[in-house]
Amino acid sequence: MAKFSIEDIIAAVNDLPALPQVVLKIMDLTQDPRATAQDIGNVISHDQGLTARVLRMANSAYYGYSRKVATATEATVLLGFSTIRSVVLAASINDILNRELSGYALGPGDLWKHSFGTAMASRHIAKRCKFKAIEVAYTAGLLHDIGKVILNNFMKQTYHEVVAEATTEQISFLEAENRVLGFNHAVIGSRVARKWQLPVDIVEAIAFHHNPGEAEKNPLLTAFVHISDALCSSMGLGVGADGMFYPVSRNALELLALGGKDIEDIADELSDAIIELQQGN
Ligand SMILES: [Fe+2]
Ligand SMILES: [Fe+2]
Repeated sequence: MAKFSIEDIIAAVNDLPALPQVVLKIMDLTQDPRATAQDIGNVISHDQGLTARVLRMANSAYYGYSRKVATATEATVLLGFSTIRSVVLAASINDILNRELSGYALGPGDLWKHSFGTAMASRHIAKRCKFKAIEVAYTAGLLHDIGKVILNNFMKQTYHEVVAEATTEQISFLEAENRVLGFNHAVIGSRVARKWQLPVDIVEAIAFHHNPGEAEKNPLLTAFVHISDALCSSMGLGVGADGMFYPVSRNALELLALGGKDIEDIADELSDAIIELQQGN
């Protein structure tokens, strides 16, 4: 029996701040054919904290530029409009994802590492599968577990029960959440994405990241996120107890035509970025 009502959860979703104005502005500008890199750079550089985080990300090993990116405009030119859009989103929700989520046994920064790792892996797999919108894959990966931020307070009282349910019943963590709470973090996360007015296929990928077979609008996108999430969980990247109960969808692997060797290659290619991430650079 659920201990909480859907109204409690909806109230918690509503309490989450809206996306910052600067992110909305960047989302508009990066889709405006008349906008220039200078316009975008100017908007970013009005926010010092955001600029610092964008530059840190642009200068990370993941993007691999040999010279240092010094300004937001330069980062926009080098990364391109769609990449700068996802980098700005990542940089601006860094605070939300950095929180400690004791209800999920996640320390400060753990969800950020897990989300960022999943975002990078999703982008990577999307590129490998020749998917056009690789930044959409990045954003969906980044936000896939955002529902945990909402459910954390509810999980604080029920975490042990959820873990016990998953262990004794041999079910996934998500299913145990459903049974104990009456909700799961994937569905709640999709409500956050809707509140933030993100595209419907991102909403869907978040909703079904643990059950990729249920995706209808964009099964590929959901499969990228699912496999990346599983990969990051298996690499121990910012995972709590749910990582121990993670059934990987064979259909998703087949859909993406990924074999064991491909997964190993992807994990190898990601490890530099992950080491950097764990060092807090
Ligand atoms: Fe999840
Ligand atoms: Fe996850």
